[in-house]
Amino acid sequence: MYTIKTLNAISPVGLAKLPASQFEIDNEAAAPQGILVRSADMHEMPLPESLLAIARAGAGTNNIPIEECTNAGIVVFNTPGANANAVAELVVGALIAGSRNMVDAVQWAQGLKGRDTIAKDVEKGKKQFVGPELRGKTLGVIGLGAIGARVANAAVSLGMEVLGYDPYISIDAAWSLSRSVQHCVTLGDMLPRCDYLTIHVPYLPTTRHTINAQTLAMCKDGVRVLNFARGELVDNAALLDALDSGKVAHYFCDFPTEELLGVKGVECTPHLGASTPESETNCAVMAAAELSDYLKNGNITHS
Ligand code: MLT
Repeated sequence: MYTIKTLNAISPVGLAKLPASQFEIDNEAAAPQGILVRSADMHEMPLPESLLAIARAGAGTNNIPIEECTNAGIVVFNTPGANANAVAELVVGALIAGSRNMVDAVQWAQGLKGRDTIAKDVEKGKKQFVGPELRGKTLGVIGLGAIGARVANAAVSLGMEVLGYDPYISIDAAWSLSRSVQHCVTLGDMLPRCDYLTIHVPYLPTTRHTINAQTLAMCKDGVRVLNFARGELVDNAALLDALDSGKVAHYFCDFPTEELLGVKGVECTPHLGASTPESETNCAVMAAAELSDYLKNGNITHS
């Protein structure tokens, strides 16, 4: 019998992959063999000596102390691709909503009062919230993994020119993702050409502040930036300066912070990328399967 501790609410469909005859789910367990986690930050948590594996129901593993786990012989799994569709759909929604000022326009329209004046106010709103179409504009996608590739393909189907930058995939692989995505060899090749920029890379020491004062300076004036990957990929101070100067026209991100909230031109959702029932189920099923296969058979998949 293996004891599994869950640190976040995990979809029951996933937990059902751990049959009660072999696995005990005990969220208070002091000596679990396995941990299932979504977003709980494990960096400050002691790792029990009994622990053999951690499975994260999500793609990023930055909430897990990987080095300590490696030193202690604890295997860490994630669920690459399991929530890619959910994140990509939200990014496409944000691309459209940000460009067409939908968030501000909806809030403004909710404040309209009085039947007689609504028609006149609507005329004002039509002018106030004008925003550019996507068709014919250029989108730069940093990172062409499961999420970035989906966003790139959706943007192509919206009529955008799509440039991709990913130093970890070959030009052949980039072409097989989508023949319409133009592969750039350096960020410097891509950034000056983008009207919109979206980032889809994991948060690692090497990717911290990928979007910073230097990279923003290479961008077109008025570029619109999206970040639904991790907040730390963007240097917020540089981003705020760029918004102030007009270099960046709009920043849509999934990571609200004190400094960003309430700033004109910034819109934030509360880390909603993977929050769909489908994605929560997919991630939980994959994470539970990985944990089960490792604990029972010693097999390592997707770690
Ligand atoms: C991920 O890394 O895939 C997301 O952060 C998942 C989540 O929101 O839980």
